[in-house]
Amino acid sequence: MSFTLHTSSEQQTELLGKALAGLLAPDDVVVLAGDLGAGKTHFAKGVAEGLGVEEPVTSPTFNILLVHPGRLMLHHFDLYRMEHPEQLEDIDFWGTLEAGGVSLIEWGDRFPEALPEDHLEIAIHREDAERRRFEITGRGERSTALASLWVTACGQTGTFS
Ligand SMILES: Nc1ncnc2c1ncn2[C@@H]1O[C@H](COP(=O)(O)OP(=O)(O)O)[C@@H](O)[C@H]1O
Ligand SMILES: [Mg+2]
Repeated sequence: MSFTLHTSSEQQTELLGKALAGLLAPDDVVVLAGDLGAGKTHFAKGVAEGLGVEEPVTSPTFNILLVHPGRLMLHHFDLYRMEHPEQLEDIDFWGTLEAGGVSLIEWGDRFPEALPEDHLEIAIHREDAERRRFEITGRGERSTALASLWVTACGQTGTFS
């Protein structure tokens, strides 16, 4: 089952991420898909804020993985520059996903076969300069529950429709 939400500013996208953060549990995996400039990193900033991360969150494009301590450890991946799925082993991708923190994976859709069975998929589409459409799909039991909790909570505020 999929859900759709919209935002009309980068601040709203951050709020959407912040709302998700409150529901995240150890080993949750969130995949962020969408073109350059869609808003994946701004969404990640909101998640970080909601997890109580105090240091600045920047794009991990050149680092592949940045780790931020918060209520839960945030593993922020960006696979844009990764050329071969074999390189995932070098960064202990699967070990990191199961290390008890939460993982956000920008461009995770580039390597679909590498993703764990259970993950929350968020595809961000740029509708115009400010408006973004979020297509949200829970894959697996945990992420399906997470998706509906999150979307229900956001739907009630009316901000993201
Ligand atoms: N509704 C919105 N949500 C997120 N970003 C937005 C929105 N409207 C405009 N923007 C702009 O789009 C860009 C998104 O950049 P970023 O989050 O780095 O994208 P990505 O990580 O997907 O490449 C920023 O310049 C931001 O100011
Ligand atoms: Mg980014």
